[in-house]
Amino acid sequence: MNYDIDLIRSYFPILKNEVYNKPLVYFDSAASAQKPVQVLMKEEELHNDYYGNIHRGAHFMADKATLGYEEVREKVGAFINANSTNEVIFTKGTTESINLVASSFGEKFFKGGDEIIVSEMEHHANIVPWQLVAARKGARIVKWPFNDDGTLSLGMLEELLSNKTKLVAVAHVSNVLGTVNPVKEIIGIAHKKNIPVLVDGAQAAPHIPIDVQDLDADFYTFSAHKMYGPNGVGVLYGKEKWLNEIPPYQGGGEMISEVSFEGTTFNELPYKFEAGTPHITGVIAFGCAIDLVNEIGLKNLTEWEHSLMEYATTRLLEIDGMKIYGEAPQKSGVVSFNIEGVHSYDLGALIDKMGVAVRTGHLCADTVMTHYNIPGCVRISFGMYNTLAEIDAFISALNKVRMMLQETP
Ligand SMILES: Cc1ncc(COP(=O)(O)O)c(C=O)c1O
Repeated sequence: MNYDIDLIRSYFPILKNEVYNKPLVYFDSAASAQKPVQVLMKEEELHNDYYGNIHRGAHFMADKATLGYEEVREKVGAFINANSTNEVIFTKGTTESINLVASSFGEKFFKGGDEIIVSEMEHHANIVPWQLVAARKGARIVKWPFNDDGTLSLGMLEELLSNKTKLVAVAHVSNVLGTVNPVKEIIGIAHKKNIPVLVDGAQAAPHIPIDVQDLDADFYTFSAHKMYGPNGVGVLYGKEKWLNEIPPYQGGGEMISEVSFEGTTFNELPYKFEAGTPHITGVIAFGCAIDLVNEIGLKNLTEWEHSLMEYATTRLLEIDGMKIYGEAPQKSGVVSFNIEGVHSYDLGALIDKMGVAVRTGHLCADTVMTHYNIPGCVRISFGMYNTLAEIDAFISALNKVRMMLQETP
């Protein structure tokens, strides 16, 4: 594999920082990834050189910003192999993308007695929006449980699907277990019964290649900030036939065609779902993050991060009392664990003082915690810039913390 880690790290100025006088080891990219200079410079360039509001411009600045914004829509479309840029909606993030679908699709298609199948390994962002719309419509959420090893059973999905099912919501990659779910097969099973599927791709888009046409996904969501882009930008991919059928999510400027007090007509896709001024600089800078990911190549990224995940797992398993959550054969660069007798919060707080940034707690996935009957856990997650040497540094910090905590009565 041709992977120039030194060059890649040089793109991320923050990695040179020290925290508490220790070199930063950033193992929290699943929460939010760090930003490369390409993205930082683009935001600055835009503000310095051609900032203006988009799609309504009668001047040079606005036109140039509009062009930049729409170019990124094309880039995103190509990145996920959408059939058309009409299918690429910019949102604030995965959470807003899922809320949009739950609200608009639910408004149009859900009714009393309907069922929405949601996997047990979902982030709260792929559970709560469905609960909200289900409560409004008198529909019901059906839990699709996962096996203890962190895999989903396709046979169980077949059993759960019924003529009441209106949609299946599932993560491409679990943010706790790291499981890469077989979404193509899942979609195939649901489609046999004409049931659409929303795939939450927040933890997949930065790490594995995505082809929404090959998957035949009805909806696919992800966030720019987890893939080295700015925060406050997300993507909703939706098949054009659905986006045409469902009502707008929010009303305001941009999403309309004509407005009068007698009634309003809506703009065409994708603008129908982009009310108000979007995160113009964020979207345009996101284009640079996509360029970087493409330049390195998702295949290389997958391989690199997989080797980090495997090495970290091996090293963690050397520790007495180690319990890792998620042992699926197909895993992405996320490892969640607990050590017997050590509270995850204490571990996180102490290891932070040694320069290592990890995530602790319920990881916005209470249903996963409930499955294992734990209050929380520790998660390490990798980005394109992490190294095996950082894993060694983390393990040695972890051993120190563990001894301190296990010695404390
Ligand atoms: C699987 C998954 N879905 C959804 C989200 C929510 O993403 P955002 O906060 O960017 O909207 C996250 C964030 O961690 C996630 O990991």
